[in-house]
Amino acid sequence: MHIHRLEKIWLAFGFSMLVVFLTVLGVMTFSMGMAPPSGHHHAIDPTKVTETAPFDKPVLNKIGDNEYEAIMTAFAFGYAPTTLEVPAGATVHFTITSSDVVHGFEIVGTNVNMMVLPGEVNHTTHTFKKPGEYLILCNEYCGIGHEMMKTTIVVN
Ligand code: CUA
Repeated sequence: MHIHRLEKIWLAFGFSMLVVFLTVLGVMTFSMGMAPPSGHHHAIDPTKVTETAPFDKPVLNKIGDNEYEAIMTAFAFGYAPTTLEVPAGATVHFTITSSDVVHGFEIVGTNVNMMVLPGEVNHTTHTFKKPGEYLILCNEYCGIGHEMMKTTIVVN
């Protein structure tokens, strides 16, 4: 097979760029000690989620001046606690895990969007400035009832 000289040059150029990028990536990864986020890594036994505190009692707690803590579990096909109600301007700290399979936790109209893995404890915080009904839905396919998996947070 005949390959044109210019094509050979481009192939060599492309290949050497690939080598350069992968080398840079590799060297940086080790020299800077890059790793997946692990600073707040927290996991519990995924088979005992409903028996492990605080997930044995999913709850919405008032922890300060218009500040709340929501301890939640995701399961096929819903969330606990089922009803969440806070006043406008409330800051809610969500702590959530799954008791069965991978689920999603997206609050429509906000930038809250988490993956919920069995036994992995995930956190996020959001301040609900505007009153209204916020839809929380699952955006990871989790089974036959996936599309029905939702709840709402009512902000008064
Ligand atoms: Cu839970 Cu989809």
